Amino acid sequence: MMSRWTLGAGLAALVLSPVAVAEPSDREVQRIMKRDFHPKGQAKMDRLEQDAVQRVCTATNGKPPEMLAKALEADQYKSIPFPQGSLIGNWKNGAKIAWGGRGMQWHEDPKKPSDGGCYNCHEASPLRPSAGTIGPSLKAFGKARGSSPEMQKYVYGKIYNAKAYNLCSEMPRFGHTGSLTDAQIRDLVAYLLDPASPVNQ
Ligand code: HEC
Repeated sequence: MMSRWTLGAGLAALVLSPVAVAEPSDREVQRIMKRDFHPKGQAKMDRLEQDAVQRVCTATNGKPPEMLAKALEADQYKSIPFPQGSLIGNWKNGAKIAWGGRGMQWHEDPKKPSDGGCYNCHEASPLRPSAGTIGPSLKAFGKARGSSPEMQKYVYGKIYNAKAYNLCSEMPRFGHTGSLTDAQIRDLVAYLLDPASPVNQ
């Protein structure tokens, strides 16, 4: 009988040995995801469908030719319905939306407003030191950039559709996909730009 040690060493060798494993093709990955994803509640099979922009980014490994990227970004930009007037909402509501993580999951009511889950990827307020690092730090964002109408428009647009500015951005398109409302996005703009917000302390 094989001792535990031999078995362990054998397994380690198997895992560590540099056997060339072919990368699965995109089609194969799609097939496996469709096989293993179980639709439930609001999380239906369409969650696995990529739109044209995502397909371009997948096919080019996140680096589409510059001209194509610029054209598709312009196209995404056109779809942002910028509201008139000040885009600065209420930073206190914005804090709740940025901190919270509910929404879009199968067991949740799609009629209730979602949160932004911004801290999954960004640090921002010193009151919340634990944060993800996929996105850049947003600490003192408004202090550094000001809150001019142009800056408000940029932040609103970025949250509404990050791909309008950076085609293969990893940031979700919160307005475009309908997961955040216009009022919620304005509250987030306030959270980042309002001098009174803890982000800018
Ligand atoms: C899945 C990760 C992820 C989430 C969640 C996320 N972001 Fe981002 N965000 C990024 C990445 C990556 C970038 C940088 C690349 C880019 O510009 O698209 C970015 C860029 C930004 C920028 C531009 C920063 C600059 O220096 O100009 C802002 C503003 C921003 N995010 C705000 C938010 C807000 C507000 C939320 C929550 C509603 C949020 N992000 C949620 C990943 C994320």
